[in-house]
Amino acid sequence: MSYNNILSDYQNGITTITINRPKKLNALNKDTIQELHDAFDKANNDSDTKVIIITGSGEKAFVAGADISEFADFNVEEGGKLAAQGQTLLFDFVENLSTPVIAAVNGFALGGGLELAMACHFRIASTNARMGLPETSLGVIPGYGGTQRLPQLVGKGRAMEMIMTAGMVDANQALSYGLVNHVVEQEGLLEFCKSIASKIMRNSSVAISEAIKAVNANYKDGINGFEVEIRAFGDCFGTEDFTEGTTAFLEKRKADFPGK
Ligand code: COA
Repeated sequence: MSYNNILSDYQNGITTITINRPKKLNALNKDTIQELHDAFDKANNDSDTKVIIITGSGEKAFVAGADISEFADFNVEEGGKLAAQGQTLLFDFVENLSTPVIAAVNGFALGGGLELAMACHFRIASTNARMGLPETSLGVIPGYGGTQRLPQLVGKGRAMEMIMTAGMVDANQALSYGLVNHVVEQEGLLEFCKSIASKIMRNSSVAISEAIKAVNANYKDGINGFEVEIRAFGDCFGTEDFTEGTTAFLEKRKADFPGK
């Protein structure tokens, strides 16, 4: 698949996906969501890619939301379908990838943009980033998982306030809320994300994918996360990465994980 709305670049174990519609502040239209699905899927299935970074092009926006021009005349049925398809294709898809996904939030992350960042495994913001769920100002609610993931990350009261006011928080407030893990200057954002990625890459990608599964299990209805953890923990004992990791420790050398 060739891409019109995104860029995907592989270097040294990291695939960086850049949403590339800067004139529209990287708003997520249908084609962009489909391309992102494809690029994430490819990177996840690429045995060389150990970490995925997602960011927006330009200096102003990560993603300024779902593309309002595409859904302004939708009816009830089309609205429901828009949310369901988006969640399946992109937001739930990203959250459940076995490869770690870091959101490099380089500016506005609004509506679907913040929802995309929240679907990633964790977020790092530049100092100019501004985040919010402005949907109620448009007469709609967040439909790409925002009503579920925002309370998980910042707590119910803060999420309620952000959604009801449709306001934005700046990078430092997002940091104090736990919405992002770090705040760095914009020029250094990607390098900082890559330095965290390099720490991740020292570890077993097989174990990391099991850990993602176990952590995510806590947020799934009807699933006992402790049981998922027990199973995933046991499964690790059958992997080459486990043999290598424990052997390397006992032999007092650095592990060289066969990986995914
Ligand atoms: N959907 C479609 N187009 C969008 C968009 C979105 N979510 N966000 C920005 N754009 C477009 C604008 O329409 C404009 O296009 P144009 O130049 O063809 O008119 C372009 O991106 C630049 O945006 P503009 O509003 O001129 O930039 P700004 O600096 O004045 O304001 C924002 C920046 C982010 C505050 C403002 O663009 C905004 O509020 N965007 C919508 C945010 C939102 O409600 N998102 C949730 C959607 S569910």
